[in-house]
Amino acid sequence: MKMKFAGVLAFSAAMVFGLNGAVVAGDVERGESKARTCAGCHGTAGRSNVPSMFPSLAGRDAEELVELLKGYRSGEIDNAQMTPQARNLSDEDIKDLAAYYEAQEPK
Ligand code: HEC
Repeated sequence: MKMKFAGVLAFSAAMVFGLNGAVVAGDVERGESKARTCAGCHGTAGRSNVPSMFPSLAGRDAEELVELLKGYRSGEIDNAQMTPQARNLSDEDIKDLAAYYEAQEPK
């Protein structure tokens, strides 16, 4: 019983301190290749050329981007252009994309 509890604690600590990077945070390099399809609308590196139509994503908080993308994926946020883009993203895709955009220099 004690051992089991220690295991749970160690696992929680790993989650909190980000030791398990694959679970906690996205991967910027993987995000970069996944972001190619987004550039057509959101601009190179998420720096939009038409921010009034396509929001800029560069330098935005990754957690916020994750929430938004999950919203489009579930259909909670319904947009004719964006909802279909998010529909086939996995949780990992979303984290990688969010990490990539957060790491980009805003315009
Ligand atoms: C066909 C054009 C198009 C493509 C391709 C596209 N998006 Fe979008 N995206 C939009 C539009 C339009 C909006 C604004 C929708 C709205 O107002 O709800 C948007 C909104 C967003 C938002 C929310 C921004 C905010 O401030 O509310 C995020 C995050 C996002 N897109 C990420 C992505 C990612 C990641 C990809 C690539 C997987 C992608 N988009 C591909 C058109 C596109």
